[in-house]
Amino acid sequence: MILKTRPTASPLRGELTPPGDKSISHRALIFSCLASGVSRVEGLLDSEDVNATARACQQLGMKLREDGDAVLLTGTGANGLAAPGGPLDMGNSGTAMRLLAGVLAGQPFDSVLIGDESLSKRPMNRIVKPLQQMGAHIETGQGGTPPLTIQGNPALRGIEYDSPIASAQVKSCLLLAGLFASGQTRVNEPLRSRDHTEQMLPAFGVDLAGECAVNGGSRLRAAEVTVPADISSAAFFLVAAAIVPGSDLLLRRVGLNQTRDGIVQVMQSMGADLTIHDVRHVGGEKFADLRIRHAGRLRGVDIPEALVPSLIDELPVLFALAAVSEGVTRLRGAAELRVKESDRLAVMARGLENLGVRLTEFPDGMDVTGGAVHGGVADGAGDHRCAMSFCVLGQVASDPVTVTGAENINTSYPGFMADLQRLGGEVTVHE
Ligand code: S3P
Repeated sequence: MILKTRPTASPLRGELTPPGDKSISHRALIFSCLASGVSRVEGLLDSEDVNATARACQQLGMKLREDGDAVLLTGTGANGLAAPGGPLDMGNSGTAMRLLAGVLAGQPFDSVLIGDESLSKRPMNRIVKPLQQMGAHIETGQGGTPPLTIQGNPALRGIEYDSPIASAQVKSCLLLAGLFASGQTRVNEPLRSRDHTEQMLPAFGVDLAGECAVNGGSRLRAAEVTVPADISSAAFFLVAAAIVPGSDLLLRRVGLNQTRDGIVQVMQSMGADLTIHDVRHVGGEKFADLRIRHAGRLRGVDIPEALVPSLIDELPVLFALAAVSEGVTRLRGAAELRVKESDRLAVMARGLENLGVRLTEFPDGMDVTGGAVHGGVADGAGDHRCAMSFCVLGQVASDPVTVTGAENINTSYPGFMADLQRLGGEVTVHE
């Protein structure tokens, strides 16, 4: 899929409820699959990544039924997972593969997890090594990449793991494995990664054994989950409205969990007119409405390293914002970007350079110097967030921008182009 943008003649105006949070949707499905009873999940994201998790959970015995805007999920209960009939296909989703690997390592049956071309290149040793310390039997492909061949071991042992990286996928994988292990499993991180797992487990009846620890043998019971709108999807519209003159958008029921709100802090520090309204708390998660109004050219900033985990998925679109802001925006401490759905530092650097942006790429970050952006071709390289970021920047380029490699937008935000068009943006889709 190719997208073509034109410099938008009109401001972006109106209201939008962005799609459901992807991280929370994966967890709601997996926890409901493990729970006894029928869970009700409202606002679940309907996208390729989350659908891959839903299909895998169904292969493991969960029943899924739609109920208006919600889904009803009948779980498999204590030790109730069924052996899958064949490989579990996680598509493009690292979260799905890493979290389910944690669950499957401790089952009394074997399983195989596979993924698409991008996922098949992503590092899995970050979960395989600590799972092996717990007693798991897992084989990877060459260089520690998928497929994961798991010989289930119901006799896992809990561990205390000092993770070298701030990764919610690693943390959640180990906590899930810990539910099926003996003793306690605890994960320590260098910086706090998103904490949706810790927030949601208690709703499913699991008492945490401290901030980031579980007791083996804890059982899940069905819960009601309300999924907020995804701040990572909202981010494209926060930036679009911040750069298109005259814009004024209201983004409704956005998840503002404090381990995810770095984009709001950084945009405010750049001078954005971004305000938070109607804050409420639902099931451990914070929801709010965000109003963003164009406020002239923003200022480049040094993005604090301590904030990186809280805006890791928003960095591609922050580079786009930096490209049209005043002065230099500096990022370091974000080497993790190189092992996302693509090497996001390289893909964003090449695409931005093609549009005339001056930048310097570093092993763990980038300096972007703001200025004028011209038209041209930017390759999203099959990475949803890079493709959407180029599309946002195309709204203010001096000439049309062609965004190639955009098909995977469907993994997180299938309605992105329609939402952008409806609010006044200029984008067309070409197969
Ligand atoms: C996610 C964690 C992050 C993030 C990803 C979703 C999650 O990855 O980039 O999009 O749902 O746990 P890491 O855990 O690898 O940092």
